[in-house]
Amino acid sequence: MRYATVVSPERPYDLVVFGATGFTGRLVAEYLAARPPLDPPLRWAVAGRDLAKLEALRKALGRKVGLIVADAGDPTSLARMAEVTRVVATTVGPYIRYGDAVVRACVDAGTDYADITGEPEFVDRTIVRYHDVAEAKGVRVVNCCGFDSVPHDLGAFYTVRQLPPSVPIRVEGFVRTRGGLSAGTWTSALDAFARTAQTRRARRARMDTQIPLRGERKVASTRPQLHYEPRLHGWLVPLPTIDSDVVLRSARIDPRYGPEFRYGHYLRVRRFSTLVAGAAAVGGVYLGARLAPTRALLRRAKGAGEGPSPEARARARFEVLFHGQGGGRTVRCRVAGGDPGYDETAKMLAESALCLARDRKRLPGPCGVVTPAAAMGDALLVRLQAAGLIFETLE
Ligand SMILES: NC(=O)c1ccc[n+]([C@@H]2O[C@H](COP(=O)([O-])OP(=O)(O)OC[C@H]3O[C@@H](n4cnc5c(N)ncnc54)[C@H](OP(=O)(O)O)[C@@H]3O)[C@@H](O)[C@H]2O)c1
Repeated sequence: MRYATVVSPERPYDLVVFGATGFTGRLVAEYLAARPPLDPPLRWAVAGRDLAKLEALRKALGRKVGLIVADAGDPTSLARMAEVTRVVATTVGPYIRYGDAVVRACVDAGTDYADITGEPEFVDRTIVRYHDVAEAKGVRVVNCCGFDSVPHDLGAFYTVRQLPPSVPIRVEGFVRTRGGLSAGTWTSALDAFARTAQTRRARRARMDTQIPLRGERKVASTRPQLHYEPRLHGWLVPLPTIDSDVVLRSARIDPRYGPEFRYGHYLRVRRFSTLVAGAAAVGGVYLGARLAPTRALLRRAKGAGEGPSPEARARARFEVLFHGQGGGRTVRCRVAGGDPGYDETAKMLAESALCLARDRKRLPGPCGVVTPAAAMGDALLVRLQAAGLIFETLE
């Protein structure tokens, strides 16, 4: 592992929020604008493809922030954006369409990068294309800094830290969420459902280039099975999201996850009827997304830039319970917060970007295309706790 090169403090900005005129990007900008002032003051800018929208956003924020016009389809504009900042935090998605050029611009400019993708194909392609060059240049490319996958990645990291060191460890995570979807998330999910063959190919390519494990360490999934868990009063459904992969990648990078680490990731639902209804809904959307005409119809279900209202977000919640076992000890931990998809995602991305920009001396070390826990570990945990997310040990 390489340590980051020192990025010149002469760059005009600490961080740039790219996609700030979109639904989630605006929440990130609002979060940063509402934060208490830092010492030295945070130098930041909002970026997007439409100057008039950026100007309106700056007026609404009521803060002295820079404006940068950049388009994901214009590499020169991306290079200009990446060169004037230490960190780019991007919410421009679907990432499989727009993400690659942004990563490339950041790696070329020696600029750290954070996003909120949950798209496995994009992350796998990013690892294959950019890990080695980013590592050699001392750049951190950190995908999945939103609800995908910060609570799970840092929750597993936190759980591991409650267990004895240097013993085989098994962790399971049980997620429960309530909240709505934005048009951006909806479109990204439809794209991902339509690209299962490409996703499988990207995964195989990434597995072939997997970062080697140190010594004889083993890292693997527990191979979760659907079952009823009386202690949790609910059904546990294996959850094939990117979160499990992110946790396992963190464990591969960090020897503190022990000589043998296994992780299982589940959705927790109270009633079997909810499980059946949820599976039918996801199955229906999946089938609809596979054919271009029905996918186009499904896309129209949400208008561009739409997302859950402030009232709906105020009612939204998430909770992830973790069961960890190792060295004869068992721990139960909990990560919880408010609206997972948007308010808390905006907080997680903003704090990740601040962490990369301002906590450089406290970062654990690994560079390249790395997970939130591997890139930021305790420094991000401390920030998120201070920002109101709950990470606690129950017993
Ligand atoms: N992991 C998570 O938990 C999580 C949570 C929330 C969102 N997300 C992901 O974040 C992404 C954004 O979601 P959202 O709801 O914020 O979507 P959105 O409201 O549609 O915002 C997308 C943004 O991308 C910008 N954009 C589109 N094409 C561009 C281009 N060629 N150049 C520059 N900017 C461009 C749009 O600019 P304009 O404003 O000019 O249209 C807009 O600002 C999605 O991929 C979603 O899946 C992930």
